[in-house]
Amino acid sequence: MLASLFNRRSVQTKSLAVDAYYEQTLLNDVALSEALTHAHKHSRDNGLPNIAVSPLQGKFLQQLVQISGTERILEVGTLGGYSAIWLASALPASGKLITLEIDPDSANVAKENLAHANLSDKVDVIIGAALESLATLKAESVPPFDFVFIDADKVNNANYLQHACDMTSANAIIIVDNVVRGGEVTNAESTDESIIGTRAVADYVSKHENLSATVLQTVGNKGYDGFMLIRKHA
Ligand code: SAH
Ligand code: DHB
Ligand code: MG
Repeated sequence: MLASLFNRRSVQTKSLAVDAYYEQTLLNDVALSEALTHAHKHSRDNGLPNIAVSPLQGKFLQQLVQISGTERILEVGTLGGYSAIWLASALPASGKLITLEIDPDSANVAKENLAHANLSDKVDVIIGAALESLATLKAESVPPFDFVFIDADKVNNANYLQHACDMTSANAIIIVDNVVRGGEVTNAESTDESIIGTRAVADYVSKHENLSATVLQTVGNKGYDGFMLIRKHA
């Protein structure tokens, strides 16, 4: 019993079946599912890497946006707009998602995918290195964001978190993707700059009293990884 529970191969295999089962039973928005399937195919047809959030993870983000009543979302790392579709689908008519992407080809695929999903009006895709785009947005004094999804180059994770803290409302939610990386995050000696950047996020949170955070480890069709959920407070 315990042996099978902790048999890595068995958990991996079963987690794919569990993803498939819950995708079939819980993802029942027909129009949104069509838009997401199209986005996935159009991204693949244009050679984008298969590293978007999973369907159930996308719905997890959508649910958080809906629960929190978020009106303004910032996303760092657009790729083909798959997570952006989930996030923007949760916004009210007056809501806005600003998403940052360094690769112009990916950004164009994202714009096409968002248009197909009828979400273009709610989403601005900004092309450029995110640190530069964030500095520009700051200089333009954009209204504060309520929700931030950080999912780009992990080496800059702590820099993105710092900007996110500066550019959000008092009780904002900040999600950081890929904070587990098959468990490699516990390696304090790692020379992988993605691991160093992600450990810097935990360090940043631990040094700021107005931030409270937890980590949800995940398995499934993204392998063994996880989200950090950070809450800003007084
Ligand atoms: N959030 C997406 C996946 C993003 S993958 C989804 O779940 O659907 C990470 C993306 O970050 C890639 O498209 C990559 O081009 C982008 N990226 C990498 N470095 C960046 C940088 N410095 N500024 C902005 N985007 C960057
Ligand atoms: C990678 C990046 C991601 O944002 C992700 O969710 C999975 C993988 C990567 O760069 O390998
Ligand atoms: Mg990611």
